[in-house]
Amino acid sequence: MIRLSINIDHVATLRNARGEGFPDPISAAAIVLAAGANGITVHLREDRRHIKDRDLLLLRQIVQNKLNLEMAATSELLKIAVKIKPEMCTLVPEKRAELTTEGGLDVVKNLNYLKKYIKSLHSSNILVSLFVNPDPAQIEAAFKAGADYVELHTGSYANAKTPKKIKKELDKIKTAAKFAKQHGLGVNAGHGLNYDNIPAIAEIPEIEEVSIGHYLIGSAILLGLPEVIKKTNKLLNG
Ligand code: PXP
Repeated sequence: MIRLSINIDHVATLRNARGEGFPDPISAAAIVLAAGANGITVHLREDRRHIKDRDLLLLRQIVQNKLNLEMAATSELLKIAVKIKPEMCTLVPEKRAELTTEGGLDVVKNLNYLKKYIKSLHSSNILVSLFVNPDPAQIEAAFKAGADYVELHTGSYANAKTPKKIKKELDKIKTAAKFAKQHGLGVNAGHGLNYDNIPAIAEIPEIEEVSIGHYLIGSAILLGLPEVIKKTNKLLNG
């Protein structure tokens, strides 16, 4: 069974658009967990553009199964992670101007730094996953760095347009998943997953968990509209 972790960052984005409390990502977390999700993922960004420190504190209190904190490998975030103690931290590269996480972490280049960083998280009993492109060199470096998991970046697969390109990107993910498992690493996957591209990912036996945000939150908005229109019309017209 593949576990489904829901990234609720986009609920916070919508809330922040008004600078008030609605819609509350904490309520969203409670709803998705009650509906069968296996965990919650949030990315606490340096600029706090969506999830805020307060959200993380409250989430820690309500998420009992698995809280996955995506974060840049900075000293500020290390202090926060050690205090909050999520079940897992997923280390991601972070650029201020990007719209979303653009690529995988360069573990090869930052091996020594990440080794120490991972050790610090392990001292607090936090599992560590590294968000990497499906590239054997990065996976081998993740193993050397002492990571518990890799999260394979599925963005290139999700963005591929032709059957040939889709197959090529999918094959990279399959090979990377096998390679990671052979190194004793757990395998997660995420980025750009939707109803069309999930089934092929679900067939990869090594994948334990997927983290999905944008498409699921977007779909929930669209699918929820008929109900809220009906209710509002009733309130207006009896
Ligand atoms: N995994 C990681 C590491 C991410 O940075 C993101 C995007 O926040 C996701 C998964 C989820 O991607 P999406 O929102 O496209 O489903």
